[in-house]
Amino acid sequence: MKKMAIVLAAGQGKRMKSKLYKVLHSVCGTPMVGHVLNAVHGASCERSIVIVGHGAEAVKSVLGGSVEYALQSEQLGTGHAVMQAKPLLADEEGVTIVICGDTPLIRKETVESMIELHVQQGVAATILTAQLPEPSGYGRIVRGTDNGVLRIVEHKDCSPEEAEINEINTGTYCFDNRKLFQALEKVTNTNAQGEYYLTDVIGILQREGDAIAAYLVEDSAESIGVNDRIALGEAERLMRRRINVGHQINGVTLIDAEQTYIDVNVTIGSDTILYPGTVLRGQTSIGSSCIIGPSTELADTVVGDGVSIRQTVAEGAEIGNECIVGPFAYLRPGTKLGSQVKVGDFVEIKNAVIGDYSKVPHLSYVGDAIVGSNVNIGCGAITANYDGYNKSITEIGDNVFIGSNVNLIAPVKVGNGAYIVAGSTITHNVADNDVAIARERQVNKPGYADKLRKQARAKKDKETE
Ligand code: UD1
Ligand code: CA
Repeated sequence: MKKMAIVLAAGQGKRMKSKLYKVLHSVCGTPMVGHVLNAVHGASCERSIVIVGHGAEAVKSVLGGSVEYALQSEQLGTGHAVMQAKPLLADEEGVTIVICGDTPLIRKETVESMIELHVQQGVAATILTAQLPEPSGYGRIVRGTDNGVLRIVEHKDCSPEEAEINEINTGTYCFDNRKLFQALEKVTNTNAQGEYYLTDVIGILQREGDAIAAYLVEDSAESIGVNDRIALGEAERLMRRRINVGHQINGVTLIDAEQTYIDVNVTIGSDTILYPGTVLRGQTSIGSSCIIGPSTELADTVVGDGVSIRQTVAEGAEIGNECIVGPFAYLRPGTKLGSQVKVGDFVEIKNAVIGDYSKVPHLSYVGDAIVGSNVNIGCGAITANYDGYNKSITEIGDNVFIGSNVNLIAPVKVGNGAYIVAGSTITHNVADNDVAIARERQVNKPGYADKLRKQARAKKDKETE
């Protein structure tokens, strides 16, 4: 049996009060419509048609070529939206999942179970429903005396009795593909919102003698439809909890799960401990037995095993096994730390490889550099990689000692085992095992301090006269 999906994503989402189209708002780092597509792809739908309208180009550029698109140039309702897929799907035999792009919490397992029930019962349509204590805003499921589903009534069209119904339409359905498009022809827009409602298809099929099933989702949190920022915040909170529990089950300790923010695609090894204020974004992956945080943000960063990272920001960085990073380090894209590297406080590293066992303990900038292993970069030492026009490379060999406050003016090379004396400004290459000193010689003037003070006092007295 062929499985297809139609994802509704053409609405602007006026209630979001946003320049960004509703379905592109992110929940735990992924646009809502991306979560929805993951669920339908996870349930192995062969074809996915995304209905686009408002912000069509923006939605397409985010989702790319992995799906098909149908344009709904005027937003006349969810039924009208599904109709736009007719030229692409009308001839297909099989089941079609219809799902809203603004329900990011629906899980693939739920979609699978709904399809299973649909096939097992041999019905024309199956609605994914939920029981909500506060059903306001959602379409209600109206059942007959035999408890069978009769129709869906939109919130704005509810009678007072219907408004009391707690079973709601999640906006996800499984249809017999042919019957869906036949019934859609009969949908009108005579309702409170003057729209062609997809939900009317249920009543139409039922009246024509087709059987309708409802699959009640166990965890009603899955049903949340995001229409405004309040619901967006709620979806974020629920998704965060789901992600965090997943990591806890896998053996990760979260000191305060309410204050740990992990995007969907992040992976974390067991026995890693996350302190509060840890934010793990994008394609970040963390090994086992690490200690991360507090107050640490890692984006698209790969971390090995046994690493400690405190109060740090890293983006596009690679951190090897057993490194110690922070507090207060900033690792920018292209940073590659080997094993057992130490990067300490107020250190910024960009586009630089730092070899195994090397240390950059405090107050340094290392940019566009290749640093060997077992190197010590002293406090305040920096690479001067930029002349206002060009970026140049600094190369430092193995076992090098760079003293405090050294300026390495790139392009420059320092050979293996070299020793750069504190305060030096290095403009020329240094050969293996050389000592380089590049600073003014010190002059001491015996007893001169008293003379200096007298002069200064005299100047001040003269001014205050
Ligand atoms: C819809 C359902 C409601 C259900 C709720 C679940 C209808 C009529 N109502 O209501 O029963 O309880 O979802 O969250 O279907 N869209 C289009 N084109 C349009 C209109 C909407 O593509 O012309 C898209 C939107 O971008 C959105 C989805 O369809 O992703 C749902 O539309 P929305 O306006 O949010 O419907 P609800 O009022 O939430
Ligand atoms: Ca909605």
